[in-house]
Amino acid sequence: MELHTRINLIGSSPRFQAVVAQIHRMARLDASVLIAGETGTGKELAARAIHYLSGRSDKPFVPVNCGALSDSLVESELFGHERGAFTDAKTASAGLIGEAAGGTLFLDEVDTLSGKAQASLLRFLQDRTYRRVGGGGLRQVDVRVLVASNADLDELARTRQFRKDLLYRLNVLSLRMPALRERQGDAEELAQATLQRLSHQYRLPSKCLHADGLDFIRRYAWPGNVRELENVIHREYLMSDDPQLCLHDSRQQLLAEAVGPAMTDGMRIQDFGDAGFRDAKAQAVAEFERSYVREMLARADGNISQAARLSQQDRSAFGKLVRKYRLGGTDERAA
Ligand SMILES: Nc1ncnc2c1ncn2[C@@H]1O[C@H](COP(=O)(O)OP(=O)(O)O)[C@@H](O)[C@H]1O
Ligand SMILES: [Mg+2]
Repeated sequence: MELHTRINLIGSSPRFQAVVAQIHRMARLDASVLIAGETGTGKELAARAIHYLSGRSDKPFVPVNCGALSDSLVESELFGHERGAFTDAKTASAGLIGEAAGGTLFLDEVDTLSGKAQASLLRFLQDRTYRRVGGGGLRQVDVRVLVASNADLDELARTRQFRKDLLYRLNVLSLRMPALRERQGDAEELAQATLQRLSHQYRLPSKCLHADGLDFIRRYAWPGNVRELENVIHREYLMSDDPQLCLHDSRQQLLAEAVGPAMTDGMRIQDFGDAGFRDAKAQAVAEFERSYVREMLARADGNISQAARLSQQDRSAFGKLVRKYRLGGTDERAA
């Protein structure tokens, strides 16, 4: 019921439906969930769905972007502070954790938390107690913690940038949001749903996708996932005079972006600052590789094997470069 009124998880692909089933199951379990996935894959939407499908749905859902909090303020933002705790603390604050009482706290980009904040979060997860900044006693609050990250937390834990003990606490349950390119048929479905939503929102006549637009949506790799797709549809919906969207302008733009600044502007020596010759050369080569691979992927509509052929490169060598620069692309062998 709530799902239909507040959250709409679109996508009929088996891959995504498996995730939806996991979301329903996790909503019933009152444990922390670590939500992983590339940018724009719906991590926050999944967190909201878990909250609104859970027994906590009539209590607050409090989303926090940890990456947007400054190191010096993160603890007082999360755990609150007493009056006079620091110069600007004119009044006491309950913090986001206090705001979420009885409900769910969603920590996005959890990998960006400072070491100190990680320690406080770990303590809270262990015994549900915390202290406000600037003293006061131990406080207790009933809050479910969901976290998300697009970083490789295992790798960060291995290199000691993220606490291992915190990672173990957080990923009791873990949910991986698949990239849009891994979700057969969903891009098209999402595009159609977005068009419907837009005509309601703007109270304008509905528009549909021209066969060429549809073809592009199916074949493009969507490195920015659902968010990128929504943006493209939104822009085209507003800017195109045609009731049938071909996505011609967006297609040109995405291709131009794929070429990258280095290839369009030319590289200037001063851009390398005072890097020595070896470092400057390595940077230039990396810049070239990234631009080249992006361009070939764009020409091949995101198909890695085809892009490798266009580049006259071995499939596995080309695939390595795609992964090195995290350029996405579809892998028909994995499908
Ligand atoms: N399965 C989906 N169905 C409908 N909209 C989606 C879906 N996945 C993502 N979105 C939309 O895409 C955008 C990005 O989602 P978001 O949850 O913010 O991604 P992330 O947090 O992973 O970057 C939002 O507007 C969200 O509503
Ligand atoms: Mg997000």
